[in-house]
Amino acid sequence: MTKVAIAGSTGSIGRQTLDVIASSRTNDDCSYELVALSAHSSADEIISQARHWKPKLVVVTDPIARARVARELVGIEVIADLSELASVADVVVNGVVGFAGLSVTISTLKAGKRLALANKESLIAAGPIVAPLRAVKGAEIIPVDSEHCAIHQCLRSSKNHPGEVARLLLTASGGPFRGRTSGSLADVTITQALAHPTWSMGPKITVDSSTLMNKGLEVIEAHQLFGIDYHAIDVVVHPQSIVHSMVEFRDGATIAQLSMPDMRLPIAYALDYPNRSSVGFGSIDWSTLSRLDFEQPDCDTFRCLGLAYSAGRIGGTAPAWLSAANEVAVEAFLAGRVRWTQIASIIEATLQHHDGLIPGDVQDIMLADAVARQWARKEVSR
Ligand SMILES: NC(=O)c1ccc[n+]([C@@H]2O[C@H](COP(=O)([O-])OP(=O)(O)OC[C@H]3O[C@@H](n4cnc5c(N)ncnc54)[C@H](OP(=O)(O)O)[C@@H]3O)[C@@H](O)[C@H]2O)c1
Repeated sequence: MTKVAIAGSTGSIGRQTLDVIASSRTNDDCSYELVALSAHSSADEIISQARHWKPKLVVVTDPIARARVARELVGIEVIADLSELASVADVVVNGVVGFAGLSVTISTLKAGKRLALANKESLIAAGPIVAPLRAVKGAEIIPVDSEHCAIHQCLRSSKNHPGEVARLLLTASGGPFRGRTSGSLADVTITQALAHPTWSMGPKITVDSSTLMNKGLEVIEAHQLFGIDYHAIDVVVHPQSIVHSMVEFRDGATIAQLSMPDMRLPIAYALDYPNRSSVGFGSIDWSTLSRLDFEQPDCDTFRCLGLAYSAGRIGGTAPAWLSAANEVAVEAFLAGRVRWTQIASIIEATLQHHDGLIPGDVQDIMLADAVARQWARKEVSR
């Protein structure tokens, strides 16, 4: 039995991970034991999840919610520290949103455990600190982000990557505003930005998809995960979200991974790797699939993509600044304080203040995140 802990079990990734485990149980083939769950402030949901799944450990980071959860869950340990998840599990699924997922990423790798990584922000912000931790005995990152999971699968066809890789092609749905011009996007509403055409996800990543910042963050994530230079990572818009990404090899062959948009497939892949899950998700009905379209991203309208490439190329703490500024800008957009078109401007203005700090340890990353947020908040209130 693989002991699984879920960081962010009340979110979109967390709930879908529970669904993967539940499906494997109904399939009479369950090889997972759910040992820990976590939430920030969704007390009712984590109480209900814990009553159903009976984990050993529940982590609740918001103090008021934690006190309530602890009162309700008799016989289950309820604590504040997300880093403890790795101490009870073989695999930790990091489904926390944003920089708050950093402690999960670091503690899991330090403990020499498998990290099923959905939380891209931790890798983007702390790439130089996370990289050496991958050498810890037993530590490994299996990506859950569908594009990186696809690339992970494509790379299994090569014994000698990255030497044989010509380029990575990350696919992007294009989000709800694909095809729109910047002039027509001035007054888009929160509801419109949250109406993703192909994926149902949490609010932050859905807004990131509408600005193409999600794809920009994924370009940096791909660089960190697979060690491929930025000039060999391209983005191609594919509105159907069926080709999840591709690898072009030196010999001209392109290998792609295809399935219907369903995050349970990459989650199950990350839990079961190197085996294939016995439960299927997202298989394609080829009798109804008639076309797959591809187009170039519009980098003039969706400026966040270019900002992410620039921050990735600068390296050091620039990706941490980019990601922190984006979190602040998206939060402000979702609170109705700034317009959608201001998200890119806030990030761009924040990055003007980047101090070029080269991170030596996790404290430097925390500092970079805090300073970038200060600048971004100033830009929001301007
Ligand atoms: N959703 C997808 O399909 C998808 C696909 C690819 C990658 N990802 C990545 O996966 C991550 C999670 O995305 P999501 O869509 O699942 O987000 P989500 O639905 O918003 O869920 C976020 C989870 O994180 C918890 N959380 C929020 N703030 C926290 C904090 N300060 N400390 C500890 N926990 C906190 C939430 O708890 P509460 O419920 O208590 O707030 C919730 O459990 C993101 O990094 C995203 O980019 C998601």
